[in-house]
Amino acid sequence: MVKRVALVTGAMGGLGTAICKALAQNGFTVAANCLPNFEPKAAWLTKMKSEGFDFLVTEADVTDYDACAEMINHLETTAGPVDVLVNNAGITRDAVFKKMNKGQWDSVLSTNLDSVFNVTHHVLAGMAERGWGRVINISSVNGIKGQFGQANYSAAKAGILGFTKAIAAEVAKKGVTVNAIAPGYVGTDMVMAIKQEVRDEIVATIPMGRLGKPEEIGGLCAYLASDLAGYMTGATLNINGGLHFS
Ligand code: CAA
Repeated sequence: MVKRVALVTGAMGGLGTAICKALAQNGFTVAANCLPNFEPKAAWLTKMKSEGFDFLVTEADVTDYDACAEMINHLETTAGPVDVLVNNAGITRDAVFKKMNKGQWDSVLSTNLDSVFNVTHHVLAGMAERGWGRVINISSVNGIKGQFGQANYSAAKAGILGFTKAIAAEVAKKGVTVNAIAPGYVGTDMVMAIKQEVRDEIVATIPMGRLGKPEEIGGLCAYLASDLAGYMTGATLNINGGLHFS
């Protein structure tokens, strides 16, 4: 049987890596997206190979619509149509709002939200035509509850939730599901970059008393990408150690 193809954006960070591994372990051919000339790429690929993972790499800046078109075109010609898209690429530029500059706003909105349009737009029609597809959007607990110092990030991650529901409605009849995962604080470089005393205060508010593990998010992605998840669409799945219930 031909393997289904999954594309993961921002694949070489903490969450992206765990998502790629989980999808590969569940039988997908995985294409790992990163920025063009991404410096850590070679070391990442070597490490993945040493762990038994053989990922394709698809380079494109996901803030650039035309570059995404080229990336998808090339991937679909060489590996086959994209059956699963995980919109995972994301950055933080945290600052209290009065100190937040336009650059910090723009970079987070374009990387975390515009990217979701830029990539999804090139794969959704194909999924609908073939009658099967999965779009999984990585939002955040902070897109639901808001977070001090994250007006830009919270806005982008909340935007993803609206996008997810709208698109889910448009393709529900076509065998394509569109869902969002809202992770809490997971032990990735992004979270470890928060000043230790601030991070400790945040962890103290998590009922489970610990950060999430990247593989806990990867596992949920694998479920959403599976046939078993075929009746779930437009959902926001919280995975946050009890930090926020919604
Ligand atoms: N609620 C209310 N007040 C708060 C607060 C909070 N959560 N956090 C800080 N404050 C107060 C401080 O007590 C301080 O008050 P005083 O001036 O009276 O002393 C004031 O706000 C300024 O706070 P900081 O010293 O922290 O300000 P700063 O400019 O040094 O730092 C910041 C601002 C960079 C935003 C820092 O607060 C921070 O890193 N916060 C954490 C932001 C965060 O959670 N980021 C998540 C990144 S990981 C991620 O995003 C993944 C995911 O999806 C979850």
